[in-house]
Amino acid sequence: MKKIALLLTLATSIGLAACSGAPAEVAKGPNAEARTAAFKKMMPDFSSMGKMVKGEEAYDAEKFKAAAASFAQLSQEPFKHFTSDGEGKDGDSLPNIWTDAEKFKAEETKFADAVVVLNEKAQAGNLEEIKVAYGNTGATCKSCHDTFRRPK
Ligand code: HEC
Repeated sequence: MKKIALLLTLATSIGLAACSGAPAEVAKGPNAEARTAAFKKMMPDFSSMGKMVKGEEAYDAEKFKAAAASFAQLSQEPFKHFTSDGEGKDGDSLPNIWTDAEKFKAEETKFADAVVVLNEKAQAGNLEEIKVAYGNTGATCKSCHDTFRRPK
């Protein structure tokens, strides 16, 4: 009886978590941890560029160049860790990453290509062109997340 009550409590709290929009905790094995850490590590550069592109911060060509060059390196890191840790341990990575590897690779390539262009535009220093390249890069993040990352 006690066990049933406990299960009911668990079910309710999971239900509530889903309703409130809080992300359900998903177990992460070592590869999932590594790729999450790598994604987080590239974020400061991406956000720094984003602020300048959106005009929240004044465009500083040297600062932008440095962020883009660093991002070009750091953004490759997560993809060195896309190996499954086994069912239930893949964090926010959806199973279709492993079952539809070709499509995932195509998304990764699209992203890598956009990042190369962004860095080229950053080094050239034309803000209007940089804005387009930044937008294109952001679109490739979204495109992959929409298909291959657990919805947030
Ligand atoms: C080719 C696919 C792909 C591309 C491109 C991609 N991501 Fe992700 N991203 C993922 C997946 C899958 C995860 C979930 C990782 C896990 O938990 O195993 C993830 C996780 C993250 C995380 C970790 C924390 C979280 O919210 O899950 C951040 C931050 C992130 N991505 C940001 C970005 C940004 C910003 C870009 C573009 C500049 C980007 N990603 C491009 C697939 C991608």
